[in-house]
Amino acid sequence: MISWRKHYKKGLIAIGLLLSTSASIYGQDGDPKNGEKLFKANCTACHALDKQVVGPALKGVVERLKSEQGLDTAWLHKWIKDNKALRASGDKYANEVFEKFNKTEMQVFPNLADKDIDDILAYTTNPPAPEPEKTAEAAPGTEATAAPANNTTSSIVIISLLAIAGLLVWILIKLRQLVKMGQSEDLAGLNESRVKSFSEIYEKYHYIGKGLLAVLAILATYGVWNWIMWIGVYKGYKPDQPIYFSHKIHAGENKIDCQLCHSSAKYGKVSEIPSMNVCMNCHRTISEYNGKYLEPGKDKAFYDGEIKKIYEHTGWDSEKQQYTGKTSPVEWTRIHNMPDFVYFNHSQHVVAGEQAIINSFNKKNPDNKIDVVCKACHGKIDTMNVVQMANDFTMGWCIECHRTTEIDMNNGYNKEYFKNLHEKLKKQYPQDGGKITVDAIGGLECGKCHY
Ligand code: HEC
Ligand code: HEC
Ligand code: HEC
Ligand code: HEC
Ligand code: HEC
Ligand code: HEC
Repeated sequence: MISWRKHYKKGLIAIGLLLSTSASIYGQDGDPKNGEKLFKANCTACHALDKQVVGPALKGVVERLKSEQGLDTAWLHKWIKDNKALRASGDKYANEVFEKFNKTEMQVFPNLADKDIDDILAYTTNPPAPEPEKTAEAAPGTEATAAPANNTTSSIVIISLLAIAGLLVWILIKLRQLVKMGQSEDLAGLNESRVKSFSEIYEKYHYIGKGLLAVLAILATYGVWNWIMWIGVYKGYKPDQPIYFSHKIHAGENKIDCQLCHSSAKYGKVSEIPSMNVCMNCHRTISEYNGKYLEPGKDKAFYDGEIKKIYEHTGWDSEKQQYTGKTSPVEWTRIHNMPDFVYFNHSQHVVAGEQAIINSFNKKNPDNKIDVVCKACHGKIDTMNVVQMANDFTMGWCIECHRTTEIDMNNGYNKEYFKNLHEKLKKQYPQDGGKITVDAIGGLECGKCHY
């Protein structure tokens, strides 16, 4: 009897274990609701549930890989976290599927926790019924927050115009008074104390005239001063581009990582404009625009036409699905361009300075936090349909940030490099508690930024 009980218990545990493992094989212990959120945030740039986009359709992927390839969720975890590492390890299917998709690289997601991946897989296994769209309407409205910088300039212009209009009205009133005076004098012809000739009018009113001239001179000086101060400053510069490429649609709506396209930012000085091959990684399969977001005044046909331009430049025949060999370069207009005597290095800021810049920016702008380092200098590019310069990119702007940004002494690069300096500064400025801003490591030295 007892032994039966023992076995019964063991049996229960075994059944429990079996259930829980098989559940996890089928990804059902995750939360599909949360998975849906994560999927939309991270995967929809390249995957849909029911059709191939850049990568394969993912509905039922857990079951499909199990039945077709004998792979379990552990494999999926590895793949989703770091498909490159998995391929490099020589995994057979990982390399097969990479070949099958013409060696298109899937992004790596080292930051997704196991639980997150379970949730995403649960979503691909059991997608919840779609909820009625509430947010779709709101989307275009978010535009308004894109470029607050312009408002101040335009309000200055408006105030100046109002001031000038006021002055004009005032001059008109004064002129009318003068004319009236002259008329009444003609009629009366007697009043000697009245003004008789222009010279007398001048005698009487020249102060007003001089005052007016002085005001105009001040305005003109102010204008010239402003004009001088803005030489070489192109904040807000926003040229039209040969292809209407929207960062709002790519980096915003579809959450594509900046560095997927500007991949050289972390390796070196410039963070180039991506080549057409990068576009084709996705656009070989995305030949038309089906997004919900439409910029006011633009429609699907417009966006489809812009995508066609990629095919014209790369010589891709989308009917025959092959390249014709007739290519032509796209002539993007460069927006940011420092003078030749300035040395600016992206990787220094995007890699070594990343955390320091994000932390410092978020401390200074608690209501307008950023998640990606690029935005500290380039503004909220992911809300811009057309890129514009978000800062003035002057020397003063660089220096201001170097004075106020505390560098991250704990990142691997600085820890080694500045070990001794750090100790020295700690002794030198004990009142700062060893806080070190970029100026302390040479960020204000002329030679660091100038050839
Ligand atoms: C930048 C585009 C891109 C993003 C973003 C992306 N993937 Fe992929 N994914 C691909 C491509 C392309 C493949 C096909 C294999 C290859 O070329 O490496 C793929 C393959 C897969 C596979 C293998 C499917 C199969 O049928 O064998 C899974 C699973 C997968 N992705 C899951 C995800 C998940 C989950 C996310 C979001 C967390 C994600 N992917 C985000 C591009 C992407
Ligand atoms: C899908 C590819 C893609 C993604 C993702 C992307 N960009 Fe771009 N970016 C481009 C292209 C193409 C251009 C050139 C056309 C233009 O200016 O809009 C460009 C231009 C720029 C420029 C202006 C360059 C110049 O001429 O001075 C900046 C700055 C920039 N991107 C920053 C970002 C940031 C920040 C992100 C992430 C929030 C990002 N990009 C995401 C493709 C991309
Ligand atoms: C510390 C400020 C700063 C940060 C952070 C920063 N940039 Fe830049 N970016 C600049 C400056 C300055 C230029 C102009 C460089 C020049 O003309 O030599 C520039 C130029 C560019 C250009 C035009 C091409 C070029 O390199 O001249 C692109 C594209 C760009 N940045 C993208 C990015 C992306 C993507 C990120 C994030 C990964 C980023 N930037 C982070 C300051 C920054
Ligand atoms: C990681 C994938 C990816 C890459 C790389 C990519 N795109 Fe896109 N692109 C998309 C997605 C997703 C859409 C929206 C499709 C939809 O919603 O139906 C889109 C839409 C577009 C559109 C129509 C909307 C708009 O922005 O005007 C154009 C044009 C476009 N892409 C041009 C480009 C160009 C040029 C490049 C290369 C510099 C590029 N794309 C690179 C994924 C990508
Ligand atoms: C948003 C803040 C910010 C802006 C704006 C900025 N920088 Fe920096 N810069 C940093 C940080 C942080 C570091 C230190 C990175 C590190 O930890 O090594 C740095 C380091 C540097 C260095 C290396 C200094 C050294 O001694 O090693 C140079 C050179 C430099 N920046 C040039 C520039 C130029 C040129 C500009 C303007 C076009 C600029 N920076 C704008 C934050 C900024
Ligand atoms: C953090 C980087 C940085 C440092 C340090 C720096 N500069 Fe500059 N400097 C710049 C940038 C960026 C510009 C270009 C500004 C522009 O195009 O509006 C510039 C422009 C100039 C110009 C041209 C002025 C103009 O209006 O065209 C001179 C002269 C100059 N710097 C001298 C110096 C001297 C002298 C030092 C040392 C005391 C110094 N700079 C330190 C970044 C720096």
